[in-house]
Amino acid sequence: MRILSGIQPSGALHIGNYFGMMQPAVALQTEGEALYFIADYHALTSLRDPQALRANSRRVALDFLACGLDPECATLFRHSDVPQVTELAWILSTVAPMGLLERAHSYKDKLARGMSANVGLFSYPILMAADILIYDSDVVPVGKDQKQHIEITRDLAVKMNETFGPIFKLPEPRIRVASETVPGIDGQKMSKSYGNNIDIFGDEKEMRKRVMSIVTDSAAMDAPKDPEQSTIFKLYSLVASKDEIADMREQFVKGGTGYGDFKKQLFDKLWQYFAPMRKRREEILNDKSYIDDVLAHGAKRANEIAKQVMERVREAVGLR
Ligand code: ADP
Ligand code: TRP
Repeated sequence: MRILSGIQPSGALHIGNYFGMMQPAVALQTEGEALYFIADYHALTSLRDPQALRANSRRVALDFLACGLDPECATLFRHSDVPQVTELAWILSTVAPMGLLERAHSYKDKLARGMSANVGLFSYPILMAADILIYDSDVVPVGKDQKQHIEITRDLAVKMNETFGPIFKLPEPRIRVASETVPGIDGQKMSKSYGNNIDIFGDEKEMRKRVMSIVTDSAAMDAPKDPEQSTIFKLYSLVASKDEIADMREQFVKGGTGYGDFKKQLFDKLWQYFAPMRKRREEILNDKSYIDDVLAHGAKRANEIAKQVMERVREAVGLR
């Protein structure tokens, strides 16, 4: 089984990224051949600061490694170290119906949030399909918001197979139900572009401040509270043990505990949960060549696979 996922280097990683994508990706790394990449070509659709792009790409590599990606098990590489993927994106674009892309939620959301409609942003799902198909991927761990992109990938693979004969495998999304959509401090989907994120590797003061500013209803301290509607409880459920979760649920239902207290409990758990990862991150930072070595090794392996698949594609479409 080949497992593939990517993450854009567009800023600091938050706990939505961690539970939606990184943790499932790390959990899968021993179940087959895992390939994870830093989607720097994709980030160009919104980031036009070369220094920031370079710095963010290294930072995502660092954070992913700190979160448990083991380069002995999984291949970590930079998207742009496999430029053949842009060739495949071009070939896929020649069979992609306009309507398929016009229906993409993520494009529509980005426009609604005021991003300018460049062609790259519009055709992003085609590049993403190429990212997945060029490695003969079987499974793609992502958050729920990416599900439609995987469906588009499958549609394009089917279209290519129908047109040119069997070339591509059809990949499956792997969406972890427990963290389908991690809420941010305002209760909406956590996203750096909504400014409601809690970063994984922020300092203690910053993380505490973010947790303490989680929006709640105005129930009085004594009043019973509904855990299912609470962002605090939802986030706590991601990081606490079964008993601790049951305990907090009871405190909610019983009443007598204020939201401020629940937030403190959440902060303590979150801080503790990410402690080993912060430690690992420091270790990696102290090893000057580690990240470069991992990425160079990853690029080599990713290119080996991409080269084989592209030979198959070129042959099938008549470029050979
Ligand atoms: P952002 O919305 O902050 O820009 P990205 O779109 O870069 O995050 O997402 C990177 C990965 O993290 C994707 O696989 C995405 O599905 C996952 N992800 C992002 N936010 C969340 C969330 N709030 N809940 C679950 N998964 C998420
Ligand atoms: N679109 C994904 C995101 O914004 C990142 C991504 C790019 C990706 N290519 C991919 C994820 C291929 C999985 C597979 O989060």
